[in-house]
Amino acid sequence: MLFTKKNHLVGLDIGSRTIKAAEIGGLKKGDKPTLKKFGIIDIPRGAIEEGNIKKPEEIADAIKQLFKTYDFREHNVAVSIGGYSVIVKKINVQSMTEEQLHETIQFEAEQYIPFDIKDVNLDFQILGDNENTQRMNVLLVAAKKEIVEGYINLLEMANLSPCIIDVDAFALQNIFNINYKPKNDNVALIDIGASKTSLNILKGEDSVFMRDVSLGCDQINQKIINLVGCTNDEAEQIKFSEDTDRISPEDLLEIVTTVVADWCIEIQRALEFFYSTYPDDEIMTILLSGGGGNIKKFRQLLATETTAKVETIDPFKAFNLDKNKFDSSYLKQIAPQAAICMGLATRRVDDK
Ligand SMILES: Nc1ncnc2c1ncn2[C@@H]1O[C@H](COP(=O)(O)OP(=O)(O)OP(=O)(O)O)[C@@H](O)[C@H]1O
Ligand SMILES: [Mg+2]
Repeated sequence: MLFTKKNHLVGLDIGSRTIKAAEIGGLKKGDKPTLKKFGIIDIPRGAIEEGNIKKPEEIADAIKQLFKTYDFREHNVAVSIGGYSVIVKKINVQSMTEEQLHETIQFEAEQYIPFDIKDVNLDFQILGDNENTQRMNVLLVAAKKEIVEGYINLLEMANLSPCIIDVDAFALQNIFNINYKPKNDNVALIDIGASKTSLNILKGEDSVFMRDVSLGCDQINQKIINLVGCTNDEAEQIKFSEDTDRISPEDLLEIVTTVVADWCIEIQRALEFFYSTYPDDEIMTILLSGGGGNIKKFRQLLATETTAKVETIDPFKAFNLDKNKFDSSYLKQIAPQAAICMGLATRRVDDK
């Protein structure tokens, strides 16, 4: 996390196609937490491109609308960033105290960051000493300042106060930990959104592989546009209404199959990295989230191409859900897209 300020907050996942917000209660008391509020809203295409806030006014309006529609009154929010503007790396440095590392992190980080060190916000977490050495492992997080500032300005425009700026893959890991109470099994968490995919492979509770790539559901839209010559919004409609006059079911199936095969190749690469580092281990489960997790063809292909069990994540599994407030079939439907936002909503100031 890049910085924190206050308690009580709303988790706000600002995606390139949809913004999701969630508020959770009962986290402190040690009893089962409760989902208090959840909302999702579409944002205009092109408002966010490759993690850059291109049209802050339009996004701020959408956030205000989201807060109004779903009656969010809390102004403190936790948001996350992802994509190529954030770098998360496990580094190895000489053992020192946290205070000392604060002093020297800039110098230590320089060699690992492909951007000018002056242009990034740095944060770190000490993971622990290496046995029998004077060195320790540190998780380094570097985010481009202009991206972070873009988010802060956007939130201020929406009259919100950013308390936590997290990383997508961490938020995903967080909601997984809460819901699935991991033991010693290896799990791959994969969020496929509209324009980016976040991969996080966990060995027990530790992340051993983390990468974001520019793959997502928009690839399907783009192929539909290329084939039928329609607008992006029409492509989105065509994608969901399979019996349209504008595309044959065979053509649509071929498009979806080509795109999801591309995703599977990237996922295989990540899994191979894991297996080359831990040859005796096995990834038992792949948990999918994001809109792409809804695509059955993708889940089927991934299951046949890997030895793992492929499922969509249930970010509400460990939560009390008021049946009068939330329709269970609706929650099931939006569950994959809600994962990151639920991970953010469970953040508290004393987290690290
Ligand atoms: N059942 C489904 N079948 C196919 N595509 C789907 C389905 N449900 C959602 N999607 C697609 O998922 C995308 C939205 O997913 P999500 O909300 O995870 O994206 P996002 O968070 O806005 O994007 P990103 O994280 O990449 O910026 C849209 O492109 C939408 O068309
Ligand atoms: Mg997303």
